[in-house]
Amino acid sequence: MHYEVVLPAAGSGKRMGAGKNKLFLQLQNEPILIHTLKVFETDPNCTGIWLAVRPDERNFIRTLLKEHNITKVSGMPDGGAERQHSVHACIKAMNHVSIVLVHDAARPFITHTIIEQLVNVAHENGAAIAGVRAKDTMKKVVQGVVKETIERDSLWMVQTPQAFRFDLLAEAEDVAEKIGFLGTDEAMLVERLGHEVFIVESTYENVKMTTQEDLVFGEAIIRQRQQGGQ
Ligand code: CTP
Ligand code: MG
Repeated sequence: MHYEVVLPAAGSGKRMGAGKNKLFLQLQNEPILIHTLKVFETDPNCTGIWLAVRPDERNFIRTLLKEHNITKVSGMPDGGAERQHSVHACIKAMNHVSIVLVHDAARPFITHTIIEQLVNVAHENGAAIAGVRAKDTMKKVVQGVVKETIERDSLWMVQTPQAFRFDLLAEAEDVAEKIGFLGTDEAMLVERLGHEVFIVESTYENVKMTTQEDLVFGEAIIRQRQQGGQ
């Protein structure tokens, strides 16, 4: 089943502390952004890529796309101050499609298999998000003191991609913008409409490159995949 993907790429990567957009940092000689783009470039079900970019980085990104033969980018609107604004800029720029996926440009290790599952579940139910089960014991802490231990079986750590019927996400974003609601992911905006969101079990490899340690993990994942012949 076909889909288009929105990749917010207009952050500044403060927590990475590299002094530049972390998406330009290299993993095994290629920028993180290119690793992520290649997943969608090589997925025959992906019919278009929308990249939210910082205006001062647009030309550099164009050069990267040419250099690495990325041909599916349909548009590169200006990102906004918050990630949600960057995603919204893409949704407003797109034509209507059946299913849209939102995926952090900073998660280069997502697989075609998980994408396909998300697209199928979103097609059937409207909204599907990738997530993994919490590994550690989780406690609610207020001012340094434990208030409660939260039952772990129902806790999931949520990632991207998040897949939606286009109309549902567009409506959720319009409503959020109108009332000035800022969510930490797209699903939150859809949940607010009272719509059910389904979870698809993903992998711990689908990590977001956020701090320096993640780069070490990222390099290890690539090495392991190369050795495994993937
Ligand atoms: N992003 C975006 N527009 C923003 C903020 C973030 O498009 N205003 C993108 C980032 O480029 C990244 C994704 O959203 O691909 C996830 O965000 P995050 O990991 O928080 O990246 P940054 O915001 O760049 O990093 P930091 O929060 O450490 O500054
Ligand atoms: Mg951020």
